[in-house]
Amino acid sequence: EGHSLIEKQDWSFGGVFGTYERAQLQRGYKVYREVCSLCHSMDRLAFRNLHQPGGPEFSEEAAKQIASEYQIPDISNETGQPFDRPGTLTDHFPAPFPNKAAAQAANGGAYPPDLSLIAKARAEHRGFPGFIVDAFANYAENGPDYIYALLTHYEDPPAGVEPVPGKHYNPVFLSGDWISMPKPISDGQVEYTDGTSETVEQYSADVSAFLMWAAEPKLEERKEIGFRVMIFLIVFAVLLYLTKRKLWRNVE
Ligand code: HEM
Repeated sequence: EGHSLIEKQDWSFGGVFGTYERAQLQRGYKVYREVCSLCHSMDRLAFRNLHQPGGPEFSEEAAKQIASEYQIPDISNETGQPFDRPGTLTDHFPAPFPNKAAAQAANGGAYPPDLSLIAKARAEHRGFPGFIVDAFANYAENGPDYIYALLTHYEDPPAGVEPVPGKHYNPVFLSGDWISMPKPISDGQVEYTDGTSETVEQYSADVSAFLMWAAEPKLEERKEIGFRVMIFLIVFAVLLYLTKRKLWRNVE
């Protein structure tokens, strides 16, 4: 029944020609930074990725500034002692907890999964098997559809349903209706400077798009190459047909 609540959203990156919307990815990063990153790591993402083409495309200066606002654990070359230093473009996003045990201890025993690939990891949960999702990556949009639905479906449990201690009712959650993640965002929680509405729905759409980009940073490149391949195949097919006609012209 949870699956029927997962509605197909009108993503800018959907369809054959879809692309990410820079401003949306930048807002999504802000939601991740101010809300999700308190519990969730994003191991595969480096600060330089925020500047690369096909993503949020922050300026190099802005990406450097963002990196410098994080503290990165490092080991001193001189003393061999661990210390924290400000991040640089080549650093990866640091995790909020030193290890899995600490993350679980802070979350009532549940582990907040790394979000780097979650948009793909959850893509098959509309009934498509994983290999279909991989082969026809447009279906991968149902990863962000799931995340959007999850974030927007924190509700009171139906009458007569006993609350589960330490868990939160969410009929979208794929492992049953009770999730260990508390409702992470409320209206007005993250400030947007571009006039976009500060609602749970908007935050959820933006952060879902951001997580889609994190999981599929080459989406735009892939679609463009696919388009060129189709054009090539059409031209090639026409040429083949004309050649065939010419060669067989005199044959009865
Ligand atoms: C699980 C996203 C904020 C703690 C998850 C899952 C997603 C997610 C996609 C996986 C659900 C599944 O398995 O299908 C987000 C996003 C956030 C956010 C986008 C920010 C908007 C937080 C915060 C906390 C948190 C702030 C801690 C207070 C957890 C925990 C789980 C989880 C403990 C595991 C739930 C379980 O297995 O029952 N989150 N999260 N999350 N998240 Fe978050």
